[in-house]
Amino acid sequence: MEKRPFVTRDQLEEIVNEYPTPFHLYDEKGIRENAKKLKEAFSWNKGYREYFAVKATPNPFILNILKEYGCGADCSSMTELMMSDAIGFSGSDIMFSSNDTPAEEFQYADQIGGIINLDDITHIDFLEKAIGHIPETISCRYNPGGIFKISNDIMDNPGDAKYGMTTEQIFEAFRILKSKGARKFGIHAFLASNTVTTEYYPLLAKVLFELAVKLKKETGAEVTFINLSGGIGIPYRPGQEPNDIVAIGEGVRKVYEEVLVPEGMGDVAIYTELGRFMLGPYGALVTRAIHEKHTHKEYVGVDACAVNLMRPAMYGAYHHITVMGKEDAPCSHKYDVVGSLCENNDKFAIDRMMPEISRGDLLFIHDTGAHGYAMGYNYNGKLKSAELLLKEDGSVELIRRAETPKDYFATFDCFDVLKNIKFE
Ligand SMILES: Cc1ncc(COP(=O)(O)O)c(C=O)c1O
Repeated sequence: MEKRPFVTRDQLEEIVNEYPTPFHLYDEKGIRENAKKLKEAFSWNKGYREYFAVKATPNPFILNILKEYGCGADCSSMTELMMSDAIGFSGSDIMFSSNDTPAEEFQYADQIGGIINLDDITHIDFLEKAIGHIPETISCRYNPGGIFKISNDIMDNPGDAKYGMTTEQIFEAFRILKSKGARKFGIHAFLASNTVTTEYYPLLAKVLFELAVKLKKETGAEVTFINLSGGIGIPYRPGQEPNDIVAIGEGVRKVYEEVLVPEGMGDVAIYTELGRFMLGPYGALVTRAIHEKHTHKEYVGVDACAVNLMRPAMYGAYHHITVMGKEDAPCSHKYDVVGSLCENNDKFAIDRMMPEISRGDLLFIHDTGAHGYAMGYNYNGKLKSAELLLKEDGSVELIRRAETPKDYFATFDCFDVLKNIKFE
């Protein structure tokens, strides 16, 4: 499929008059339509719920939109729990899927009534010590090990992942939890990331549904929900077809009816914890070309850097780039599109054929709506950008201001070594 920005150049020029580049821009219309589609695709399951993976886009304005579609919040840390609690997610609206979890985070998750998803069997004791009891509703994360394949394609390598319990451990964990007072159980697994295929969720569902049947039979535990977690991907590259969420929902339904219903488990709720699928395509990093450099290669320097979008530097991830106003121009020039970090991997594109770029051009870096802004950091003393929401009526709302030097220096505010800095 062709990749087109969700704004026009004229719209963007107007936005940048008010908000300087770089910034992340989110498309409210796209977010809403997609959330609605997901909900419908799983509406066959009475208890279905998407717990949005807050880590993907931790912004209260975005969370509030998703809340309107019945989403809960999947949190992985104290601040994500605090944010979710503060905007009114409460009790079972919150899933706490963390790993290597500090005691204070278990305590806080328990205090606000969130559902705790244990990453390891040893966390049973750790949790009990931290909060003084075992919650009545609890979930365990499963990792079957090995390699996760679809047909002959290797999707991911759970055997090499730090998450979850082995098969033996999850049976033992259920027995222990039950003996300590747990009454309602969930199972969770995340076996492959960014899958662009309708097969992943049904295959994962089969693994988890069969496990649920065995866990119920062998431990007597009441499995009330199965959490398929994240992993439904998006087409980052042009030419890739997006996932068909209706077909994915139907695929899971088929396995549900084959495996769970005959075992009298037709009331088990299906949960998902999607991040990328919910927000990825509905966000973009907007940046301006500020330099061109002709040395051993052709470079375009932009005013964003890996601090604003880390995925290319971190994973060599592809993000499509549209040069605004040159959407249909021939891709006649080969560029490295770079940021200003003193790191040679600070490149949004390498050897990419693009239309000729001039200084001042606006670049729209696609698919930054999930794991984009959120992964940012402050290397080289760079500041994090603003986040803007393009509303359904075409207006724009600032949903997070850009960092200022004052924010950067804030953690020295209890010392006097920087007292001479003037911020204006
Ligand atoms: C526990 C958990 N759930 C859900 C997600 C969301 O994954 P995705 O954005 O790929 O859907 C993640 C991502 O890292 C995760 O770690």
